Amino acid sequence: MAVEKLYENIFEANKQWAKARSEEDPDFFAHLAKDQNPDFLYIGCSDSRVHANEIMGLEPGQVFVHRNIANMVVNSDLNALSVINYAVVHLNVKYIIVCGHYNCGGIKAAMEPRDLGILNPWLRNIRDVYRLHQKELDMIEDAEERYKRFVEINIKEQCLNVTKTAEVQKSFYETGWPRVVGWVYDLHNGSLIDLKIDFEKELEGIRKIYDLTRK
Ligand code: CO
Repeated sequence: MAVEKLYENIFEANKQWAKARSEEDPDFFAHLAKDQNPDFLYIGCSDSRVHANEIMGLEPGQVFVHRNIANMVVNSDLNALSVINYAVVHLNVKYIIVCGHYNCGGIKAAMEPRDLGILNPWLRNIRDVYRLHQKELDMIEDAEERYKRFVEINIKEQCLNVTKTAEVQKSFYETGWPRVVGWVYDLHNGSLIDLKIDFEKELEGIRKIYDLTRK
């Protein structure tokens, strides 16, 4: 379909979608309009092929979503930090999911050192993760395997970055929630893989340096 046609079709498609939803459940929109009470915060990549709700089988209202290039949680990114703060303090989400994916263009770009203008500072955050794990990554001879492993390592580092925030630590010690989990999505077959990051162990591991629960 030509892009103009595709664009024009969006409003027609929306009308049909809203109509079908209302027919399925007459209270659908009235219920959603009242408020939101999602149990999950999903932090994922902006990649158009990885659709948060769809890959998790969740409906509107069930997942709070933040996406950026390569699912990063950067300490100076007011956008991501505000999302985490709101999700934890006001929505009381139970799980914070950092979901990366194989074949991630952001990760690939970070692995190829060159000047990409305004993207440089963003990619620097990803390159810093490579540097932190350079020993392990450089030992992987197969380029494709190294790429995959870097995707996984970055997810884990971003989980740690979520865990380093004061609101996550305070809420967890007070209520046992949220828990931070890391997933990788495989574009080739649509499967989600749980990286089985032991949240409590990781939290304990970074506490000596990053504990923000004390005054
Ligand atoms: Co990506």
